[in-house]
Amino acid sequence: MAIQWFKNAVIYCIDVDTFKDGNGDGIGDFVGLRQSLSYLAGLGVTCIWLLPFYPSPDRDNGYDITDYLSVHPALGDLGDFAEFMDEAANCGIRVIIDLVVNHTSNEHPWFKAAQRRHPKYYSYYVWRKEKPPDTKDQVVFPGRQSGVWQYSRTAKAYYFHRFYEYQPDLNTANPAVRAEIKKIMGFWLASGVSGFRVDAAPFVIAQKGPEVEKQPHESFDYINEFREFLSWRRGDALFLAEANVAPDQMLQYFGKRGDRMNMVFNFFVNPHLFLAIANESPEPLLRSLLQIPTIPNDSQWGYFLRNHDELDLSRLTELERARCFEVFGPDKTMQLYARGIRRRLAPMFSGNVQRQMLAFSLIFTIPGTPIIWYGDEIGMGDDLSQAERNSVRTPMQWSAETNAGFSTAPAKKLRRRVIDFGPFDYRNVNVQAERRDPASLLNRIERMIRTRKEYPEFACGKYRLLESSRPDAIFAHACEDEAGNAVLAIHNLSHKPVKTSVHLWTDKLTQAVFLFGGNDDAAIVARELQIGLDGYGYNWIRPFKSNGVSAKKTCRIKNRV
Ligand code: NOJ
Ligand code: CA
Repeated sequence: MAIQWFKNAVIYCIDVDTFKDGNGDGIGDFVGLRQSLSYLAGLGVTCIWLLPFYPSPDRDNGYDITDYLSVHPALGDLGDFAEFMDEAANCGIRVIIDLVVNHTSNEHPWFKAAQRRHPKYYSYYVWRKEKPPDTKDQVVFPGRQSGVWQYSRTAKAYYFHRFYEYQPDLNTANPAVRAEIKKIMGFWLASGVSGFRVDAAPFVIAQKGPEVEKQPHESFDYINEFREFLSWRRGDALFLAEANVAPDQMLQYFGKRGDRMNMVFNFFVNPHLFLAIANESPEPLLRSLLQIPTIPNDSQWGYFLRNHDELDLSRLTELERARCFEVFGPDKTMQLYARGIRRRLAPMFSGNVQRQMLAFSLIFTIPGTPIIWYGDEIGMGDDLSQAERNSVRTPMQWSAETNAGFSTAPAKKLRRRVIDFGPFDYRNVNVQAERRDPASLLNRIERMIRTRKEYPEFACGKYRLLESSRPDAIFAHACEDEAGNAVLAIHNLSHKPVKTSVHLWTDKLTQAVFLFGGNDDAAIVARELQIGLDGYGYNWIRPFKSNGVSAKKTCRIKNRV
């Protein structure tokens, strides 16, 4: 039976307004995005995740929506969206979109009516009459929010907002609100999208309002309800949850029978992976992988390195977090909300391409689906002069032409300034320059994507952690499909070259071919795979059963990718 498409997908996340400007007004749009599809198809991505592109005052990068059933006029109109969808389909690329239904903008017509105590819309939101207690400890953006209740003079009541005060929470306990959510889903499914990234999933289903302080609980049955709707409308549609929850909460988001979210971003392994890279030791990564639950067969983890938000380190201990800050974001201006790092991957690794490849190789091989933040495939930098998380949302760097080839508008009209300073200046770091260099990050990522897609064992296989003679530096694991086909991935987290011996689980596998990685050779001797890896090196290997030919001879073939 074919595996679910999202398991062997490579997802690429795009903010339309900073990707490619098609009409020269300084703002990226659907026309520009459509023209960029051949680049994405060439890179090998199979699914695009679009950040919110709906009408919005844009105070939270589009996560403050005023109309769920339309396109922000600066980005185009529904016709441009349809044209983009058509071309994406021609390129064999699926599209998923952000479903932001925990809250609306305070400028949404529903909220405006609610403030006037409209009989229907008042109950779309969450209110309290009495003065709220101190709720500083319940906010999502410490230092930027003073609490989760805001007084509305028009309504003469306080409304609940988990995020910024201009993002009133929708009352998802109200069946009429859930009906609206399903209508939004139905609309976009009908326009061809393959599913949704569900923004702030734990808050969507959380009990909201004054009672919440007493005995908060989540209504997981809302997810079942939405998923049932989704699957009836489009059988292969994906529900991907943004749920930054502790390991013991994770399984509930998938549902025991896999009947809730198909996929959940793994916000627990993610910071541990960075800690492992910071310490040059696999221990934190191993520890986190052992702590997460086994998920149902049809479900999948989503793995990412960086995204459009800060690198959230809140699931580490204070000491571990301090260690990540020290290595990846030592300056206070690089840190945010006392829990995260607002930098892109490349600057966090001081531009070290091999180390970036190591990190990508980890999320491409641990069982789950890799998700790439646009621009990380060319090693783009960040702009710390931008507010909060906007530091990592600068325009895509296409070429050394004016405005990085992003737009022909005058620089002052750009949606956000291009990076025209320092080591990540667009004149050094851009698609066009990297395309011409076979050893560039871009070309290496392209080959990584190709290889990953050719070996679905990584996507759906059972996996086992493998012991090695250098547990201080080596992270080794094997993924195996039902027919017993296996692939190994061996990573050296240390900056020093390492020779190691990896213990295999069977003596049937006596030979190996290199699929992707460094140029070191290896041999299998008595169940031990002996291998040498460069500093930050990695190798993907297919072990197989001997057919009588001398193992050594075949193993010594060097197959550099
Ligand atoms: C999570 C999104 O990733 C983030 O960018 C946004 O600010 C909040 N949800 C509020 O929608
Ligand atoms: Ca434009």
